[in-house]
Amino acid sequence: MSIIANKNVLITGGAFRIGKKLTYLMAIEGAHVVIWDINRKHLDEVTNAIKKRGYTATGYYCDVSDKKQIEDTAQKVKEEIGKIDILVNNAGVVFGKSYWEYSDEEIQKTIKINLMAHLCTIKAFLPEMRLANSGHIVTIASAAGITGVANLSEYATYKFENLDNCLRE
Ligand SMILES: NC(=O)c1ccc[n+]([C@@H]2O[C@H](COP(=O)([O-])OP(=O)(O)OC[C@H]3O[C@@H](n4cnc5c(N)ncnc54)[C@H](O)[C@@H]3O)[C@@H](O)[C@H]2O)c1
Repeated sequence: MSIIANKNVLITGGAFRIGKKLTYLMAIEGAHVVIWDINRKHLDEVTNAIKKRGYTATGYYCDVSDKKQIEDTAQKVKEEIGKIDILVNNAGVVFGKSYWEYSDEEIQKTIKINLMAHLCTIKAFLPEMRLANSGHIVTIASAAGITGVANLSEYATYKFENLDNCLRE
């Protein structure tokens, strides 16, 4: 039996691309996948497809750029699903342009999703993990956090922070 069978695994941005792949792989391994995403169409499609194959998934609309939504949705998950065993901070945004071309809104959005959301979700789920003395926090960082990439200076800053935080913990 897989070591993640029957574990509750929460994946932010789990309804598309890398997050979606992770969601499927974890579900097939027997985990109960809890998907957070802002794309309702993709969220419903992925959740239903996993259930249709006989695996377990629950989708929640949650915009991780909004601290209050993270706190409220985390509370709901704890009441409806229980303790989260593995938290995967996957949701991320990239604008890909020269630093001086970023609008203030784009900078704020990148900080909120690529950095602050990680801190907020960890704050929401770590207490129960510590109490149970079990749990894992996975951060989807990027090679852009360790090497210079043209037109990704803003993105690279927070991906570096992601990697740095992981290595320290
Ligand atoms: N694609 C790559 O080549 C690559 C390389 C290295 C690292 N990464 C990292 O991997 C992660 C996933 O990348 P991807 O390419 O699959 O991303 P993507 O943009 O294709 O998908 C991201 C998912 O997150 C969701 N999302 C976006 N903003 C959100 C928000 N505010 N709240 C909740 N959900 C939100 C989107 O709806 C989408 O389902 C990101 O953290 C990214 O930085 C990607």
